[in-house]
Amino acid sequence: MPKTPPPTDLKPYFLVLDDIESEYDGKLDWPVFFGNDHPVEIDVGCGRGLFTFRASGMHPKRNFLGIEIDFKEGRRGARRIQKQERPNARILGGDVNVAFTQMIAPHSVDAIHVYFPDPWWKRKHRRRRVFNDEFADHCARLLKPGGHLHSWTDVEEYFGVISALMNHHPLFAACEPPAEREADDDMDYQTSFERKKRQDGWTIHRGLWQRNPL
Ligand SMILES: C[S@@+](CC[C@H](N)C(=O)[O-])C[C@H]1O[C@@H](n2cnc3c(N)ncnc32)[C@H](O)[C@@H]1O
Repeated sequence: MPKTPPPTDLKPYFLVLDDIESEYDGKLDWPVFFGNDHPVEIDVGCGRGLFTFRASGMHPKRNFLGIEIDFKEGRRGARRIQKQERPNARILGGDVNVAFTQMIAPHSVDAIHVYFPDPWWKRKHRRRRVFNDEFADHCARLLKPGGHLHSWTDVEEYFGVISALMNHHPLFAACEPPAEREADDDMDYQTSFERKKRQDGWTIHRGLWQRNPL
């Protein structure tokens, strides 16, 4: 049976990997994609896109791309940015591993954010985790020298794995994340998951690493 194409009502705020193939020659060439040469930040597994939405409003001279494999969630995020016709925010529906391995030029990204990646609690499912050593290598290849990787999670064990990978990676150096602060209102959180976990009283583990010079 032919695959039903995704609805196009949210274009260009929500695009899928096939759109990048057909409309952008399979490449996320940032000046073509965003129509400017501003710095680019990627939100991996952006969910409903709170980070992409807020950060693109706070930093109009930076471009933000959320990548989300769950189209329903990604489209929710895209609706918010469509309402405000944000030129510097887009959500891409699809697997980050495809985008990272096939579509993005080396040393073209200023920051990568990985907030609350799925922990896949069962040991036999752990290999489905997004953050593994290959992913760290992709980040090292795609980030500009001096670019940053941010990762937060409430899962202490997963944070231990991420920190060990990043702290021992020869192309990254650990940095101090900004000081913690109280949220001013219900939207004043990095992501929807952060809001939920903080309000439920969980500790949030926050990591920040800088890509070394070439
Ligand atoms: C726990 S949620 C966190 C969402 C958001 N970052 C937040 O903090 O609110 C993890 C998200 O990663 C997405 N995800 C998992 N694997 C992915 C992949 N390979 N590519 C893109 N998104 C992925 C899931 O669909 C889910 O929306």
